[in-house]
Amino acid sequence: MALVRTRLSVLISGRGSNMLALADWLDRHDFPIEIVQVLSNKPEAAGLELARNRGLSAEALDHRAFASREAYDAALADRIESVKPDWIVMAGFMRILTEGFCARFARRMLNIHPSLLPAYVGLHTHERALADGVRFHGLTVHGVTPTLDHGPILAQALVPVLPTDTAESLAARVLEMEHRVYPQAIAAAASGRMQWTDEGWRPGQSRPGFESLSFSPWHLHPTLLDAGEGH
Ligand code: GRF
Repeated sequence: MALVRTRLSVLISGRGSNMLALADWLDRHDFPIEIVQVLSNKPEAAGLELARNRGLSAEALDHRAFASREAYDAALADRIESVKPDWIVMAGFMRILTEGFCARFARRMLNIHPSLLPAYVGLHTHERALADGVRFHGLTVHGVTPTLDHGPILAQALVPVLPTDTAESLAARVLEMEHRVYPQAIAAAASGRMQWTDEGWRPGQSRPGFESLSFSPWHLHPTLLDAGEGH
């Protein structure tokens, strides 16, 4: 009997590197999960072209054409529901979501944020980490709730801040880990291997086809695995 395939809708606003990393990861693994839609709030998002180039269905719904945040989010939700996704994956989707939108997809949305939440909610996380002189930075994959960057944490990766770092070099080191961690975390949630409960994410029973999926909530940047004197 054919396995039921888990359907993902991916929301982007820009370059779409996490969306591509997810598509690559899904190609390399034989899990019953697929991207059925790539949706951007910006028609000029570079990620739309990248998605189409690899055969994904990609379209824009321009937020500037709507009079209010509520009107846009209602139209966006309709567009998402038209493809009947199981999960909605935010991959650099730069919009604050309304309560109504969040209620329609409650406990079915994931986001990746480039900091170790709850530190550095919002924008310019790398600049703020450098300004504070922290030694560790990283990323967080979390469930989406109406409060910005505050939903339950599914996975995090720890990334060192080096003395020579600029915001760009630090962002690149974090992004490298984003591409590794997000696909695995998405598959863990989408398969049921991790379940979003009232107490946060808890291990659960994977659906058929996901038996070989490995998942860890903790990830270390490779530099940290051999960190010794001199760093
Ligand atoms: C990533 O750093 C992600 O953590 C943040 O927005 C950025 C999106 O990059 N939410 P990309 O569009 O996936 O390349």
